[in-house]
Amino acid sequence: MKPHSVTHLLATDLDGTLVGDADSLRRLLHYYEDEPYDVTLIYSTGRHLQSALSLIEEEGLPAPHILITDVGTEIYEGISGQPDRQWRAQITAQWFPERLAAAAASCKGLIPQDIPSRHRLSYTIQSEEPVRELEKKLAELQIPHKLIVSSGRDVDILPPNTGKGEALRYVLQSRGWQSANILVAGDSGNDHEMIALGYPAVIVGNAQQELYAMAEQPHIFRAVQYCAGGIHEAWEYFYGTSKAGVSK
Ligand code: GLC
Ligand code: MG
Repeated sequence: MKPHSVTHLLATDLDGTLVGDADSLRRLLHYYEDEPYDVTLIYSTGRHLQSALSLIEEEGLPAPHILITDVGTEIYEGISGQPDRQWRAQITAQWFPERLAAAAASCKGLIPQDIPSRHRLSYTIQSEEPVRELEKKLAELQIPHKLIVSSGRDVDILPPNTGKGEALRYVLQSRGWQSANILVAGDSGNDHEMIALGYPAVIVGNAQQELYAMAEQPHIFRAVQYCAGGIHEAWEYFYGTSKAGVSK
């Protein structure tokens, strides 16, 4: 990929955020094509690599510059499948999957997800009960971890220094992209930390309750429109021609 200067950057979740409403997705992509600048894309998803790549292909999404998968535990260069080795090295030091899995196995109601991921343990739940039990157990055992609940259904146990917020912070810092015009977009619990980073962010109109519960802050825009329509609405709010003074 040829080097390019990064002036505008969209860091977005996929399911329920960029993907979910085909018409508004097409409109957003056309809008970006018509702008006088390039928009650097970072996709950040809960899916594992193969599943994320399938979605990108099925939906005809533009290839991202960076692909963050597995709830912010894996970082890849574009769609090449080339992992960021420095990131990987720094997260494995605090990853104790056997001890965490044993603790989770002793909590009734956590159903393991069948995924190939190396740096997360994921479960589905039917009620909040097992999450409270798991939280208590992990605190007693003092095993380093980060616990994330999304959509009242998915429970992810991650290395403590990971998650979508930490992964995005790392990418922006390591590539020197922090001062670009950035928009962060999400719809569910695993997006919370990246929306809270402090960059302009959007909670799309169809978001889960757990994101709506976030405190009002000037950098967080709550869209009315769903999915890519919400990203579009927020982009115009933060960077639209009249606001940012960008002439076409
Ligand atoms: C996606 C992933 C799933 C994960 C969930 C929440 O649905 O496929 O494994 O638990 O996101 O992060
Ligand atoms: Mg989502």
